[in-house]
Amino acid sequence: MAETDFDVIVIGAGPGGYVAAIRAAQLGLKTACVESRETLGGTCLNVGCIPSKALLHGSELFEEANHGMAKFGVIAKEVSLDLSAMLGEKDTAVKELTGGIEYLFKKNKVTWLKGKGSFVDASTVKVDGKDYTAKDIVIATGSSVTPLPGVDVDNDGGVIVDSTGALKLPKVPEHMVVIGGGVIGLELGSVWRRLGAKVTVVEFLDKLLPGMDDDIRKESAKIFKKQGMELKLSTKVTGAEVKDGKATLTIEPAAGGDAETIEADAVLVAIGRRPNTDGLNLEAIGLETNQRGQVEIDHDFATKVEGVWAIGDCVPGPMLAHKAEDEGLAVAENIAGEVGIVNHAVIPSVVYTMPEIAGVGMTEAGAKEAGHTVKSFKFPMMANSRAKTNREPDGFVKVIADAETDRVLGAWMIASVAGTMVAQVAQAMEFGATSEDIAYTCHAHPTHAEAVKEAAMGVKGLPIHI
Ligand code: FAD
Ligand code: NAI
Repeated sequence: MAETDFDVIVIGAGPGGYVAAIRAAQLGLKTACVESRETLGGTCLNVGCIPSKALLHGSELFEEANHGMAKFGVIAKEVSLDLSAMLGEKDTAVKELTGGIEYLFKKNKVTWLKGKGSFVDASTVKVDGKDYTAKDIVIATGSSVTPLPGVDVDNDGGVIVDSTGALKLPKVPEHMVVIGGGVIGLELGSVWRRLGAKVTVVEFLDKLLPGMDDDIRKESAKIFKKQGMELKLSTKVTGAEVKDGKATLTIEPAAGGDAETIEADAVLVAIGRRPNTDGLNLEAIGLETNQRGQVEIDHDFATKVEGVWAIGDCVPGPMLAHKAEDEGLAVAENIAGEVGIVNHAVIPSVVYTMPEIAGVGMTEAGAKEAGHTVKSFKFPMMANSRAKTNREPDGFVKVIADAETDRVLGAWMIASVAGTMVAQVAQAMEFGATSEDIAYTCHAHPTHAEAVKEAAMGVKGLPIHI
């Protein structure tokens, strides 16, 4: 095999692409991965999941030291913020994790082709002027921030930033306006609120967090308000002007009406992400994207062009790192002639605020729309002994089951460790569990996870602690 000839070429080294490349190599295939960034790991490790969680953790420690610990008798005197140390710790985590992927590539003999990849034909990819061939090519090019016309982002010291800029603000803004009450807006808005900013979230829809269960969307708005965030729902931003380090935003009701202006010294644009499919020269292989710019695939992650596959944020479905990773494993297994499957009905999602917000499976409305007769129960965290002891009263666990078969259709929760709790429901759903199965599983006491058991007991109408 020539040096430039591979069994598999993966374009993009995010959680989808790097996992696909490593698994393909593990399965004995000569594999290359094309990545144009300086470091591996894609959006998630460089400017997404990892740096945002580092800042969420750091800012949570700051808030706890300021407001949370004293009631337990831990008196921290003169708590102060060293923002550059916090940002530095985040950068260290990113460096360690992206370096870790480079180590894994070497260990598994995956060749990193540095540069932008584009198709020459269905078995040839051009990188940095040189052609590389492979029988199978995986598109794993991920996604980028959706721009908002009239609100220009400048991530290098500007007032208006996107998520990448909001991960490295040099000082805590006095007033941050977040455009978009979705996952990024609420996570990064929480970071800067905890560090001292007044935060206003402007959301086009009448509720936060589209796609989540309605009860969660309502309750989370109450919690964020209680934490001091100002929420302007059913509101749109129609223009922005930047002058002398301040932005003046024009906003108006989403349904139309009188405009008003708000001033901010930082604006975070977080209205969604769109797939990276431009620049791949897909025309050369006769592959069209859909209206949303996504690459359409079948159940096996194959596109309609033989030998070309696609996974992760650039294909339909939730834009989540763990979904991309699982698709990466599955596509490599399919290419190697094994059976790679992802159950897209059971992909958990988590918002890493405090408390965390998590869900898996169908929402109650979605289950009804799908034709199920539904029974559900909401168990409040206030009635969970561990949450009560830790003074974490906010939130609930809601389990949704089919009224006839009792099979669990979904679960939604707000709790300090909801991101961890949701995993047990995902696993139960993979095993086709009923709410009774969860209700009769012995849960350790005292744990937050007991709220999942109680919610499942409630579906039958017999919870104990409420
Ligand atoms: P990406 O991670 O986007 O990787 C694609 C890679 O392909 C990029 O490195 C890009 O440089 C490269 N590339 C693109 N085109 C080419 C080309 N032509 N040639 C060479 N290389 C190319 N998800 C979670 O599940 N949990 C979280 O907590 C979470 N937090 C997030 C926080 C933020 C602020 C953001 C922005 C996102 C977050 N996400 C989170 C989403 C998550 O980052 C994505 O779902 C995930 O990274 C998608 O993986 P991917 O492999 O499909 O694409
Ligand atoms: P999002 O889709 O979660 O939220 C965008 C919000 O902006 C929506 O509520 C939408 O109604 C609103 N919006 C759209 N246009 C608007 C406008 N003109 N004015 C006001 N509001 C407007 O997108 P977000 O937060 O940018 O995140 C992008 C992706 O990244 C998500 O799909 C998410 O899955 C992923 N992500 C996941 C995280 C996690 O798993 N914890 C963390 C961060 C991001």
